[in-house]
Amino acid sequence: MRIPVIIDCDPGHDDAIALLLAFASPKLDVQAVTVVAGNQTLEKTLKNTKDLLSYAGVRTRVAAGAEKPLLRELTIAPEVHGESGLEGPTLPPADFKEVEETAVELMREVLLRSEEKVVLIPTGPLTNVALLLLTYPELKDRIDYISLMGGACFGGNWTPAAEFNILVDPEAAKIVFESGIPIVMHGLDVTHRAQIYGDEIERIRSLEGQVPVMVAELLDFFSKYHVDFGFKGSPLHDPCAVAYVIDPTLFKVKPLHVDIETRGEFTTGATVVDYYNVTGRPANAKVAFDVDRERFIDMLVEALNSYERGD
Ligand code: BDR
Ligand code: CA
Repeated sequence: MRIPVIIDCDPGHDDAIALLLAFASPKLDVQAVTVVAGNQTLEKTLKNTKDLLSYAGVRTRVAAGAEKPLLRELTIAPEVHGESGLEGPTLPPADFKEVEETAVELMREVLLRSEEKVVLIPTGPLTNVALLLLTYPELKDRIDYISLMGGACFGGNWTPAAEFNILVDPEAAKIVFESGIPIVMHGLDVTHRAQIYGDEIERIRSLEGQVPVMVAELLDFFSKYHVDFGFKGSPLHDPCAVAYVIDPTLFKVKPLHVDIETRGEFTTGATVVDYYNVTGRPANAKVAFDVDRERFIDMLVEALNSYERGD
């Protein structure tokens, strides 16, 4: 029995790789892809999602979600992902269109139709997921758990305290973390350990077919920013959230209480993780701290190798 999942994303280089990992997995049944503004505007993240999936020969339903965070103006990340949001390879325009329903309506439909509980995999700001929970709170029970990329226990990447996805829409993150739905948080603590190195990018490039070459080109662009950031490789943030659902034994997680800071002078968007349980409050998330990096990379390479060669 494959695990039904919905991926909510903002491609984004690592979102794109997360999508390819998910669609290649025989363990997952990706029922829908919903798109949110984040790394770039919604118009661009939607285009990137469709162009990528079309190029990879994937057929699925894609829906457009929120154009901006619940209460704030949108922050984007062209420094990391370029002007298009998916700078590097040149992808031809998609040969399909998004569905007419909104992201929230498509998620609702999948949740209502699925016989099994569905796993949500958000890899961007949590706006769409929060809107789903606000609009249809009765659907919570149909969500098995949420495996998300966002936050950090120790140190941010967009401010000293905050990670990008949570910073963009902290009010949405607060709604999600307070929802009572089981959460697995893949924050920077683990994703910075999930780096891909130059020789591994070459391993991907040397696989046959257009998808691996395209991924290598994505990683060439993505690496430039991270080398400047002082990393040896590039952190594969978003693929962690997918990889966990495929094989949770790759990760070391700790059940902890996590609050979201929405009003800090210096700390807005921080995930305040009660690492030492000083509040005594019950855990609302499993926070990932480590990954078996080599096995994770092997999983990715195998997934990319499974795509049709194309012309
Ligand atoms: C997160 O922010 C985005 O730039 C990436 O796609 C990832 O989801 C990392 O902080
Ligand atoms: Ca992302």
